[in-house]
Amino acid sequence: MHCTRKIKDDLYWVGANDRRLAMFEGVYSVAGGVSYNSYLLTDEKTVLFDTSDKAIHHRFLENVEYALAGRKLDYLVVQHMEPDHSASLKELLCNYPDVKIVCNAKTLTFIKQFFELDFNFDKNTVIVNENDTLNTGRHTLHFLMAPMVHWPEVMVTYDAEDKILFSADAFGTFGALNGALFADEVDFEKDYLNEYRRYYTNIVGKYGDQVQVLLKKASSLSIEMICPLHGFVWRNSFSSIINKYMLWSGYQPEEKGVMIAYASVYGNTENAAEILSCSLREKGVKTVMYDVSVTHASEIVAAAFRWSHLVFASTTYNAGIFIAMEDLINDLAAHNIQNRAVAVIENGSWAATSGNLIREKLGKCKNIKILEKTLSLKSSLKKSQLSEIEAITDAIAADFPLPVASVKDDVKPASIDTNAMFKFSYGLFVLTARDGEKDNGCVINTAIQVTASPLRVSIAVNKANYTHDMIIKTGAFNISIIDETAPFRIFQQFGFSSGKDTDKFEGCAYNDRAANGIRYVSEHTNSVIAGKVINSYDYGTHTIFVADITQSIVLSNERSVTYQYYFDNIKPKPQPPKESKKGYICKICGYFHEGDLPADFICPLCKHGAADFEPA
Ligand code: FEO
Repeated sequence: MHCTRKIKDDLYWVGANDRRLAMFEGVYSVAGGVSYNSYLLTDEKTVLFDTSDKAIHHRFLENVEYALAGRKLDYLVVQHMEPDHSASLKELLCNYPDVKIVCNAKTLTFIKQFFELDFNFDKNTVIVNENDTLNTGRHTLHFLMAPMVHWPEVMVTYDAEDKILFSADAFGTFGALNGALFADEVDFEKDYLNEYRRYYTNIVGKYGDQVQVLLKKASSLSIEMICPLHGFVWRNSFSSIINKYMLWSGYQPEEKGVMIAYASVYGNTENAAEILSCSLREKGVKTVMYDVSVTHASEIVAAAFRWSHLVFASTTYNAGIFIAMEDLINDLAAHNIQNRAVAVIENGSWAATSGNLIREKLGKCKNIKILEKTLSLKSSLKKSQLSEIEAITDAIAADFPLPVASVKDDVKPASIDTNAMFKFSYGLFVLTARDGEKDNGCVINTAIQVTASPLRVSIAVNKANYTHDMIIKTGAFNISIIDETAPFRIFQQFGFSSGKDTDKFEGCAYNDRAANGIRYVSEHTNSVIAGKVINSYDYGTHTIFVADITQSIVLSNERSVTYQYYFDNIKPKPQPPKESKKGYICKICGYFHEGDLPADFICPLCKHGAADFEPA
């Protein structure tokens, strides 16, 4: 039975997943499986973007047949000839012998290298070069070469009509798609970023320069969706993955911290590494540790791309570097690791050589700063050598300007008085969005200008708000800045009910819309700002959206309302219920909850938590 997903009215995902594969490319463990994506465009002409791995070719062919719905297949665009995307080519040509193959000259060479096909290439191949186009009816496809991302023949395709980039291996990942096709259907940062990093660094990490060329080409396009050959489709807020690609391809660390990889036969080298890690932590420096005999090198390569400082601690083995550590060091050099500070610890019971050999190999990599402070163990760490661990710690910590309180400082015990939050000069805003014909809005208290050039704003939005989901889907919103003339009913209207069940604009005497088509509140507000989301960050209960400001209008010169002003002058003072029932009153909206208040209670009106309730 087919298993497809519709992406647009005329675009289908027709790929499939393999969860039985143990080692991708025979090298990388894929405990979470892998997806092989393929896409079918059903325009006036039908176009298939790539085929599939042999492991899933039955499901793939079934999916293509279903999505074609009896139509013939006009074009097969071959963007990448690695067999995880081309092994089904022969079977596909058997089913659709009249299809025209669209590819570049290098790809055609590879097709002929991999397959001996009874196919009239002269008649049925469309060879494309950089910026060539193919019109399929409503859509015009533009072909852009992306050599070495990740093979020399790779090209990507831009659909100018729907602003979709079919990105080949770029922006892909290890991991099967478990029903979710779109990145916004999952918690990307929490559940998938590590595998995206492991995929990128190990598969195309060596080719950072070529990835940067592709990113530059992509930056000149207006892109609303990215369809890669592995992993999720990105339909909004994909700047988070693009930002990661910028860092990874530039060999810049994502985080300041220390990755410690150690090789230890009897635990003594491990002991020194552990003590160093503790010592760094005491200086406030983040550390992660890997035993190279246990953790697959692909995990450690990914970690080395993530962290700013690297420590390698290795015993000496056969007069050289311990086997797994030597493999790791070679792997890192092969993946072009750059721009890192490195410290080395060696061990050797009679002739320690591993330290110098590690320094020699990594010293050939670009912009690797090898710290002078080092530690050479003879069998085990001695008390007299603790000062050397301290010296390495100090040398690394010098790059981490973190203030660490000493015992002499007047340190207040950690506690949180949430009232301090109201001392910020929060404003209050009506945040509006539109999805299809549905207009909606909610009240937020966190909207700030982030940068002036380009003009950008950030907002934090509670995920419980329907407006949040609409922004996730559409990537656009308006902020109406409430002024001091606003009556309480504005807050009730937009803040105390869900747009899922109500029309937030019901009864409004105005119907103003910004150029983005989204309504805004034009009474008791002094300005409106329209935003187009360029990035989003998941922070548990809330999402922070960063957006380009696409329009801003000043409506009046009234002063903006602050949270303080709202509490002092607008919000009615909470009244205890007439009957003296035991319960709690929400300090934000006045909602009364009868009885005990569970710690995880959420106000049904304004969505604030139990911390914002007080006994009635
Ligand atoms: Fe997913 Fe380079 O193949």
